[in-house]
Amino acid sequence: MLSSKVTNHFANKVVWITGASSGIGRALVIALSDIDCHIYISARSQQGLQETLDQCADKSTIHIANGDLSNKQANLDICETIKTHHGHLDIAILNAGTCEYLDVDNFESEMFERLFKSNYISMVYGIEASLPLLEKSNNAQLVGMSSTAAYLGLPRSEAYGSTKAAIRNLFRALKVSLSPKHISASVICPGFVKTELTDKNDFDMPAIISAQRAAEYILQGIARKQHEIHFPKRFSYSLKFISLLPDSIQFRLLSKTIKKS
Ligand SMILES: NC(=O)c1ccc[n+]([C@@H]2O[C@H](COP(=O)([O-])OP(=O)(O)OC[C@H]3O[C@@H](n4cnc5c(N)ncnc54)[C@H](OP(=O)(O)O)[C@@H]3O)[C@@H](O)[C@H]2O)c1
Repeated sequence: MLSSKVTNHFANKVVWITGASSGIGRALVIALSDIDCHIYISARSQQGLQETLDQCADKSTIHIANGDLSNKQANLDICETIKTHHGHLDIAILNAGTCEYLDVDNFESEMFERLFKSNYISMVYGIEASLPLLEKSNNAQLVGMSSTAAYLGLPRSEAYGSTKAAIRNLFRALKVSLSPKHISASVICPGFVKTELTDKNDFDMPAIISAQRAAEYILQGIARKQHEIHFPKRFSYSLKFISLLPDSIQFRLLSKTIKKS
């Protein structure tokens, strides 16, 4: 259930949500579909986007704009479509991404290339394509999906965590550099959320929450223009606390998470 602050914040806005064919992106679109705002939804899977649309309360203001966002031109084409119909964009939620875990016995650079392309470079393309349209809004917000995996060097997350730490760093810089243009930058750092992405995990996921609950946290954070939207707090604050401990204690704690063979 969305608060009136969220409903009022998104009313009449033009919004772009990437990674909307499943998981958190889909939950965001469904939650917003009650509100009178135009939402452009992107991912590679046309069928996945159609399934998202089918679950929406009001479909008339939700527009499918599919494409492979690791392709620069796809991002530019989607933003050109938004420009043609509205002339501006109010909120870009760049959420698309994926996760793979590294086996240090099989350290492969290809995984880093794949994940940096799908998580980080895609987001940079999305920012490049959307900024000129955001500049035309009176109340623009640029929102990027990172992760609590950005807070620590987590074993097996060497590749995934690096992409999310890079995104968090990028958005901290953008928070400052975009402020003269009156564009607010926010970064999302979720703990574990139950989606297709985490359904593949073979380990315990403490404090895991539903995609619907994650969407509520995110929309509330956007409506409040929080810079870092992190949740669930009991998990995100625990990781933040560990990141402040002396290295020797951090490494001892993290070494307990490694499976001894
Ligand atoms: N679930 C968690 O616990 C968790 C925690 C922290 C952060 N996150 C982050 O949250 C975001 C969403 O994850 P999720 O859990 O909702 O996973 P998901 O259900 O697998 O959704 C990922 C979305 O990204 C899209 N996507 C991936 N690569 C793409 C590409 N090249 N072009 C266009 N779309 C692409 C996928 O669509 P197509 O496959 O149709 O293209 C899908 O819509 C990711 O950035 C993830 O890293 C998730």
